[in-house]
Amino acid sequence: MKFVPTSFFPPVALDLTKRIPMYRQLYEWFRDAIVSGQLRPGQRVPSTRALAAELNISRVPVLNAYEQLQAEGYLQTLVGSGTTISESVPDHATRPTTTARKSDVRPKSANRISRIGTEALSTPPQVWLDSLGPFRSSLPALEHFPNRIWSKLVSRHLSVPSRQLMAYGDPMGYMPFREAIAEYLGAARAVRCDPREVMVVTGSQQGLQLCAKVLFNPGDPIWMEDPGYPGAHQAFSSAGVRMIPIPVDHEGILVKEGLRRCPAANGAYLTPSHQYPTGSTMSASRRVEILQWAAKSGSWIIEDDYDSEFRFESRPIGALQGLDTRSSVIYLGTFSKVLFPALRLGYVVVPPRLVQAFSAVRDAADIFSSTLYQVVLTDFIREGHFARHLRRMRTLYMERRSVLVDAIHSQLGGMLEVIGAEAGMHLVALLPPGIDDRQVARQAAQDGISAMPLSMCQLTKQARGGLILGYGGTDTTEIQDGVRKLRASLDKLAK
Ligand SMILES: Cc1ncc(COP(=O)(O)O)c(C=O)c1O
Repeated sequence: MKFVPTSFFPPVALDLTKRIPMYRQLYEWFRDAIVSGQLRPGQRVPSTRALAAELNISRVPVLNAYEQLQAEGYLQTLVGSGTTISESVPDHATRPTTTARKSDVRPKSANRISRIGTEALSTPPQVWLDSLGPFRSSLPALEHFPNRIWSKLVSRHLSVPSRQLMAYGDPMGYMPFREAIAEYLGAARAVRCDPREVMVVTGSQQGLQLCAKVLFNPGDPIWMEDPGYPGAHQAFSSAGVRMIPIPVDHEGILVKEGLRRCPAANGAYLTPSHQYPTGSTMSASRRVEILQWAAKSGSWIIEDDYDSEFRFESRPIGALQGLDTRSSVIYLGTFSKVLFPALRLGYVVVPPRLVQAFSAVRDAADIFSSTLYQVVLTDFIREGHFARHLRRMRTLYMERRSVLVDAIHSQLGGMLEVIGAEAGMHLVALLPPGIDDRQVARQAAQDGISAMPLSMCQLTKQARGGLILGYGGTDTTEIQDGVRKLRASLDKLAK
């Protein structure tokens, strides 16, 4: 039998002033609730004693109503399970009807929604995101996450939860966690920060939204890498910011082009350590150029350092923020790639003069991130599990990357050109000019592959499309198999 919990039993409406007998009112209420789908087959109903007590009436009308409902097949009583809504109530009778649909009926004078809301309605479906198939980008090796250690740490804190764990927290985050993050960023990323400048966010996506809200007014122009991270496009466009596409090359964003197109931009969004998605690293000279521009024009730089932990061919490159002497850089990072994305924990290192503004705007959004995982992750870092997991994943991703590069070269060499495979958890496979990458990605999705088209990252149309192939979350067998499938998808389209 299907188990349907009773915890959401809707309030029973009785009108004691009516002349309709109480048992009849109860009977009709239950029947209507079952037919309208408010109560579902298998859902347990309160005992007659509990319902009588809750409604503050005698048990007799409740007994009579239940008896009638049982006789008509709306309720059933099974030994050991109490009384439940009958499983045999036909489904068509129990599907939500009028009440649920009323809100969908468009009134004559239709309510208006915002321009940003309207734009969001026209976003085309992205079938490549519908599954967690091979090459799904931004996915780490979930099967290698040390779940046993994690759950031990969770139960350590949950078995005797402190008041601090359960009460409201600081919009900036749990202080010991911020201290651990600041220490890690200082040592591993050459980020200059005091724990008081670290804000814990619900994924770096929230950090991007906060940057958009705190730093810019609707209509303000900001430089965006083109191609660039679609999540950043969403965050900035949903804040009404005007995105100025600036091309990137093997040294990162073309600062000179930015100066030509919009010297007075209010900011720039960058992925300097590992340009998303092309994989280039911003050169030292461009770093100096952009910091000079920011200092001169009073513009903000938003540095998204989303996967710099994974570099394979060279030593890690320090963050741009560490070179900034004028506090113009807002630095963002995430635990989505190094641990797992459903954790929804990231951080923003905010210049001291912006801490109060970020904190207030965050307070207005969702107040603070769930304390439990902040506390658990603090222990995970402090007890050495984080560093160990990182080391293991670096080796694993290096192996997965070379298996993918080799498989592409051997099976698709004539068709795909690999770029940006020196770091991170994804690479870009460029398609020959003239091939529509969305069409390829749609076909691949039908064949079970989750490859994101490069054009999803492009703000301006570019000569060559491609596929973003994530290898972090795809094991070596799936990689081999996935490349074969991809070849079959391309062959189908070529026919
Ligand atoms: C460029 C970039 N920034 C940030 C993120 C992570 O976002 P979040 O922390 O919201 O999961 C990703 C993940 O795909 C990314 O590719």
